[in-house]
Amino acid sequence: MRGFLFSLIMILFIPFFLLGLVVYTWRLRRVIIPQNISGTAAEPFGARIMMHLASTRIDKAAVKLAEHMILYRQPAKFLMLQTTGLALRISGYKGSMFGYPGQRPSSTMTMMSHRSHFLDCSISEALSRSENPIKQLVILGSGWDTRCYDLPTNSDVKCFEVDMAPTLNVKKDALIKSGIKSTHVTFVETDFNQESWWDSLLASGFDQSETTYILWEGVTMYLTNEAVNSTLALFSKLPQGSVIGVDFFTEDVVKGNPPHETWSKRMHAGVKYYSEKIMFGIPTGQTLSQGAKELAERHGLWLSKFENIGDASDKKKVPWYVFTEMTKT
Ligand SMILES: C[S@@+](CC[C@H](N)C(=O)[O-])C[C@H]1O[C@@H](n2cnc3c(N)ncnc32)[C@H](O)[C@@H]1O
Repeated sequence: MRGFLFSLIMILFIPFFLLGLVVYTWRLRRVIIPQNISGTAAEPFGARIMMHLASTRIDKAAVKLAEHMILYRQPAKFLMLQTTGLALRISGYKGSMFGYPGQRPSSTMTMMSHRSHFLDCSISEALSRSENPIKQLVILGSGWDTRCYDLPTNSDVKCFEVDMAPTLNVKKDALIKSGIKSTHVTFVETDFNQESWWDSLLASGFDQSETTYILWEGVTMYLTNEAVNSTLALFSKLPQGSVIGVDFFTEDVVKGNPPHETWSKRMHAGVKYYSEKIMFGIPTGQTLSQGAKELAERHGLWLSKFENIGDASDKKKVPWYVFTEMTKT
């Protein structure tokens, strides 16, 4: 009933939403892409804002940042986000892509909330443990991630956000304009495909002798096989107990192997829209997690958590996206 009411209200808002989409697309093509700012970073950010609007996953920093982020600032914010927020409030709907943690098995529709939940749990478990506590939090390919701005008030974890310069610069500007405290965060510019993020991090005050959590969310698919492996090799230099939370598309979906032919084409085309390119996918092996386990073990790591979207036992829901946590033992 709530879902029906939500859809009904959204039908009324379609003209607003379409106008918002025009503004969003114009800004993407004319402002974001020419300046080499990541457009794909806007998608998970938008999904997290939607969950916030449905009150299923609170992310106040994301909502504040959206005011000053080129793609979502007014009038796009009103036309797309506020209208949807109003429909969610009136209907009380909290399902599908707005749900958190959402139902399992998850689907293409609900994968963002599954991904957020998997990584939220991984980070919060690591940050709350008393033995061998995490001292540094590094967000690789941080985009519009807000986890550094939502840490417990007594946390003394040093934070680093690593991304390409154009994306980091607009984010830093938006943080200042939105009044979000970011003095505990060091911003590190790099290109994972071109240079060593490790050297850039070390030059920015990162201490490789401290136990560290690395969040590498929504990034590996845009990298080369070499860049993914060299990042894991660098991670493996960190002290015992360090953790990396990372998601992967499967090799089958990236290559368009059966049964993913149609979805793969759509996905490549969707990312091309942002002038970006999907390159890396993880082999799944005999069991779905085998490829992740082998990748972890190649770098002397333990695959400490593994989840996937879809359902390996259902031919209509063959998994194509996996979430992993690897630990330095
Ligand atoms: C889809 S976004 C994910 C952002 C963020 N982790 C999140 O989940 O909201 C991918 C991010 O990776 C960054 N990225 C992609 N390729 C990169 C590269 N070669 N070097 C550095 N950052 C890169 C992009 O700038 C973008 O911010």
